[in-house]
Amino acid sequence: MTATGGCPVSPRAAAFDPFGDAYQADPPASVRWARDEEPVFYSPEIGYWVVTRYADVKAVFRDNILFSPSIALEKITPVSDEATATLAKYDYAMNRTLVNEDEPAHMPRRRALMDPFTPERLAAHEPMVRGLAREYVDRFVDAGRVDLVDDMLWEVPLTVALHFLGVPEEDMATLREYSIAHTVNTWGRPSPEEQVAVAEAVGKFWRFAGTVVDKLRKDPSGPGWMPFSIRAQREMPDVITDSYLHSIMMAGIVAAHETTANAAANAIKLLLENRSVWEEICANPSLIPNAVEECLRHSGSVAAWRRLVTADTTIGGVPIPRGAKLLIVNSSANHDERHFDNPDEFDIRRENAAEHLTFGYGSHQCMGKNLARMELQVFLEELTSRLPHLELVPDQEFTYLPNTSFRGPDHLWVQWDPGANPERTDP
Ligand code: HEM
Repeated sequence: MTATGGCPVSPRAAAFDPFGDAYQADPPASVRWARDEEPVFYSPEIGYWVVTRYADVKAVFRDNILFSPSIALEKITPVSDEATATLAKYDYAMNRTLVNEDEPAHMPRRRALMDPFTPERLAAHEPMVRGLAREYVDRFVDAGRVDLVDDMLWEVPLTVALHFLGVPEEDMATLREYSIAHTVNTWGRPSPEEQVAVAEAVGKFWRFAGTVVDKLRKDPSGPGWMPFSIRAQREMPDVITDSYLHSIMMAGIVAAHETTANAAANAIKLLLENRSVWEEICANPSLIPNAVEECLRHSGSVAAWRRLVTADTTIGGVPIPRGAKLLIVNSSANHDERHFDNPDEFDIRRENAAEHLTFGYGSHQCMGKNLARMELQVFLEELTSRLPHLELVPDQEFTYLPNTSFRGPDHLWVQWDPGANPERTDP
């Protein structure tokens, strides 16, 4: 029932907890009641208004003046004094990047930095992505059983991200620890003790990012988005500031890496759970591009995003005051039957699959969306052609890093008979 009168919070809204089991298990299913009955509600648990329907989520994304992205990377859990002191020790000063920058600063910066994302530039990365995917599959193709996350899907997107950014390849294990810490720091609910450990890792990540920018500044002639940004700074120092460069160096790795690694794990899990669909794309790889869109719609890797309301307004008819914070559940929008027929069904031929909101929408829409799409397509092409007999290890329990936004299984165990590998039977 929608709350009316004095108290704006219905019992179900009061019980909503994005760190609870229901949301963590399946974000769009956990707010189905809201899509149906109370599509915009206030959550006292987190102090946010929660937006769940497709039309409302899209309208919020579309208006980045009324709905400012400035809180997109704000820590959703209040930081303890000890964690703040730990971050200060590392001179942590993560600032605006692109994703949380307001106008008028955002658009000139986005335009100035768009060139490396054009289709021609991205096409040049395809051989690198395919080469990496092949190299990783080579390592385990005869093993018969592997955790795809640990043995491929985490490191390949990380390496692609570093190449795309133009960063020298660094210690993967350390970077992995760093970027998980950033996710927990931003969208998680660490305990006070965990907060200090997370702050240590985030502080080190921040320092590492600064060292890399300094190194690249000495010779920014190389390929990649960071050297490109450093060169652009010389032309437009007011648009591309020092603080921006340091912040994007850190946020850029997370933006390009974890989102794509999680999307790949979600996609392969979903396809293997729907065996006949997996077999269809093995037999007909031309289905892969739309299958990727449907995977991003059905089980996307960004479950929710945030905006700050800058003037009194209404969303879906609900009055929302200036200063309110919004949790816009784009994964819920992607399962809204008002926009997608039979939204819970996994249908790789769905005509409007690409209308999902997993990459956001409007002037902040993901700049890396086509790089991510290309990576996902290449991973599926390589795995379906080389390991069509892949299956999920039965009865495994999937766990997820508890947070509101970045979503993908921690592990994805798969198995197959190496004796039946196509390259062995038909080399
Ligand atoms: C912004 C999702 C991959 C770079 C965003 C936003 C989302 C998102 C939800 C915010 C959109 C908004 O506020 O409207 C994803 C997903 C990915 C992915 C689901 C993978 C499946 C990447 C990659 C890169 C990247 C590979 C870079 C190489 C960016 C940048 C922005 C952004 C720079 C900020 C754009 C702006 O504010 O103008 N992404 N992303 N993303 N993403 Fe991605």
